Amino acid sequence: MRRAPPHSPSAGRFASRAIVAALACACLAACSDPIAVEPPGPDPIITQAALEAGGFIEVSPCRPSHEHDLRHVRVVANLAAADRYRRCVLTARPDDPLCLEPFPEGALFVKYEYELPGCVPAELVSYTANAKLAKGAFESGRDWRWQRISPKFKVEEDGAPWRCLLCHIDHCEPPYGHDLRCTPD
Ligand code: HEC
Repeated sequence: MRRAPPHSPSAGRFASRAIVAALACACLAACSDPIAVEPPGPDPIITQAALEAGGFIEVSPCRPSHEHDLRHVRVVANLAAADRYRRCVLTARPDDPLCLEPFPEGALFVKYEYELPGCVPAELVSYTANAKLAKGAFESGRDWRWQRISPKFKVEEDGAPWRCLLCHIDHCEPPYGHDLRCTPD
C-alpha cells in the first residue's frame, strides 16, 4: 500500500492552501467589521495647526458662561471676524453701517470650553466653532457652519444642529447680538 508520507510535497501544498484560505477568511471578517469601513468624519473647521499659527484674536476672555453647559469659556476670532464682533456685538451700535451687514465669508469663531474656572489649556473639554460660508450657501445654518469639536479635533456635531441654532436665534439677534453672534452674558 502506498501512503503519502506526512511531509510529502502534496501534503505541504494542501497545508499552505489551508493557511491561505484561513488568512483570507480572517481578512474578510476584519474587512467587513463596521468600524474598519466607517467613512472618515467631516473635517473640523479649525485645526490645532491653524490655532497655533496665530492670526486669532481673543475677543472674549475667560469667564463662566450662562449657556454652553455652564462651562468656563474664552472666545477667539480671526481677523475677518474680530473687528466686527467688537463693533457690532460687544459695543452694539445699531447705527454703524457695518452692523447692517452680516459677517463676511471666512469669518471664524472658536470657543474654548472648560469645566473648571481658569481656562487652563490642559483642561479643555470641548471646542465649539462657527465658520461663515458664502452668502446663500447654507440657509439652514444662516450661512454659518456649526461644529462641536473634541480636544483631539474630532467633529462631534456638524452642520446646523438645531440645539445650537435655536439658542443662538433666541439669544443672539439684535439687540443681544449680531448675525447670531452673542453678547457675552
Ligand atoms: C443654550 C444656548 C446655546 C446653545 C445650545 C449653544 N450656544 Fe453658542 N452661545 C450662546 C451664548 C449665549 C453665547 C455668548 C455668551 C457665552 O459665551 O456664554 C454663545 C457663544 C458662542 C460662540 C462664541 C461666539 C459668539 O457667538 O459669541 C460660538 C462659536 C458658539 N456659541 C457656537 C455654538 C455651537 C457650535 C453650538 C452647538 C454645538 C452652540 N453654540 C450652542 C448660547 C448657546
